[in-house]
Amino acid sequence: MTNQSLTVNGERTAIGAVPVHTSVLDWLRDRGLTGAKEGCAEGECGACSVLVARPGIDTPTEWTAVNACLLPIASLDGQEVVTSEGLGTPAELHPVQQEMAVRGGSQCGFCTPGFVCSMAAEYYRPGRSACSGDAEHGENGFDLHSLSGNLCRCTGYRPIRDAAYALGDPGANDVLAGRAAAAPPAPVATGMHSAEGSFVRPASLDDALSLLAERSDAQVVAGCTDTGVQVNIFGSRPSLTIAIDRLSELRGFEVGAGEVRLGAALTLTEIERRLAGRVPLLEQMFPQFASRLIRNGATIGGNLGTGSPIGDTPPALLALDASLVLASQRGERVVPLAEYFTGYRQTVKAADELIKTIVIPLPLAPMTAFHKIAKRRFDDISSVAIGYAVEVRDGVVAAARIGLGGVAATPLRARATEAALIGQPWTEETVRTAAGVMAAEGTPMDDHRASSSYRSAMLGQSLLRFYFAEQGVLA
Ligand SMILES: Cc1cc2nc3c(=O)[nH]c(=O)nc-3n(C[C@H](O)[C@H](O)[C@H](O)COP(=O)(O)OP(=O)(O)OC[C@H]3O[C@@H](n4cnc5c(N)ncnc54)[C@H](O)[C@@H]3O)c2cc1C
Ligand code: FES
Ligand code: FES
Repeated sequence: MTNQSLTVNGERTAIGAVPVHTSVLDWLRDRGLTGAKEGCAEGECGACSVLVARPGIDTPTEWTAVNACLLPIASLDGQEVVTSEGLGTPAELHPVQQEMAVRGGSQCGFCTPGFVCSMAAEYYRPGRSACSGDAEHGENGFDLHSLSGNLCRCTGYRPIRDAAYALGDPGANDVLAGRAAAAPPAPVATGMHSAEGSFVRPASLDDALSLLAERSDAQVVAGCTDTGVQVNIFGSRPSLTIAIDRLSELRGFEVGAGEVRLGAALTLTEIERRLAGRVPLLEQMFPQFASRLIRNGATIGGNLGTGSPIGDTPPALLALDASLVLASQRGERVVPLAEYFTGYRQTVKAADELIKTIVIPLPLAPMTAFHKIAKRRFDDISSVAIGYAVEVRDGVVAAARIGLGGVAATPLRARATEAALIGQPWTEETVRTAAGVMAAEGTPMDDHRASSSYRSAMLGQSLLRFYFAEQGVLA
């Protein structure tokens, strides 16, 4: 027996005795809430999107759209969820459902509940209607990126965009808008057990670290956008899962005079919204990182925790000269990110350590950029990713840091290229010479995303693009 519960569409519901790795999607569907669909079970299609009440940035609570296929139900103990069924009824459609219906935004309907939930999250986003229209925003401020994690095979998307751009503001009696003004559900220390294993949400960082010290075999999870795929697609069934995403010690945010400190358990969306453009290099990276649905769950610590050579934050953070605060029961230590990765998915982080904080020194370099070379503009894994931070004084390159991803077993600094730039005049000739050096950085591989020669060519091209963009020749 378990006593865990959550609020679903306004009703307190016991989680019940289910295997601990049961996804939110399967759990909802087993209870007859079959609006959310399984299209892919790996975060790619958004058919499973639901709304969760998360701590807000501009209001105490924000309705946040997430992929229900990736989250374990145990992670929502004490939390609040709204599914497409909870938004409106056939007799009384929610405004997003109404606009989707009248504008032809739904044909076969498989994707519709997911679109409706992602659209509802954007409908309720505080300050949305104050944003002005452009190629990716409606006159009503609706940000099309909010739908970047939702796929539709039927409509061709135009009617969905028409529905999104036709939305007004929530009315004075809108229950979900009213809920946003109250505090979010507090995180609940959870211990859920089944024959598959245990899921534990410790009450504090100390509790998490002491559990981790006892059980080095435990699987730490934050947003579960990576581990959820492991469970669904690769059959991973860790005997102990430790959830750290709501630990307040891992959710700090501070922009000081000398550094920016980002809690490892902040999501990409939270960091994007809180920084609000204050770190331009990260501002360029955010929209290229997966989709809004994934960024709503994915944490920055989780991206570094995977140790992946193709994660998007490492090249950006390497260029920003970031360091990591690693915490364990033995204390804390600070590791420069440039010394963190040691091999393919290997890092200096010990099994009993957690990434607590990411520290970015200030001031930032005046010229920065993030280039991601991928097959699609959004929601794609990079073939190559490059972060730039360059300072030119009196026409001479005074400092250059270039972070690379996708060209070796680990993310790395392009040290030879940096050396070819520093002390040289910031001219096309210097950059063309350095681009030749950059094309030879790393040990790029052939794989299904790109050939090694393509990756090398893209490195050189990227540096030229950076230079010409800074000269105002390219956008
Ligand atoms: C559809 C899809 C698209 C994606 N697109 C991108 C993309 O464009 N770019 C990209 O970089 N990634 C992408 N990812 C990968 C993934 O979303 C990111 O790596 C994400 O940042 C992982 O964060 P999380 O909080 O979900 O981590 P989790 O899945 O919870 O954990 C991932 C790993 O990190 C460890 N971990 C988590 N937090 C910590 C911590 N504080 N300290 C130590 N270890 C920790 C966990 O133990 C686990 O090993 C994508 C994933 C999916 C499913
Ligand atoms: S089922 Fe496709 S994203 Fe969840
Ligand atoms: S309406 Fe058929 S998949 Fe979108």
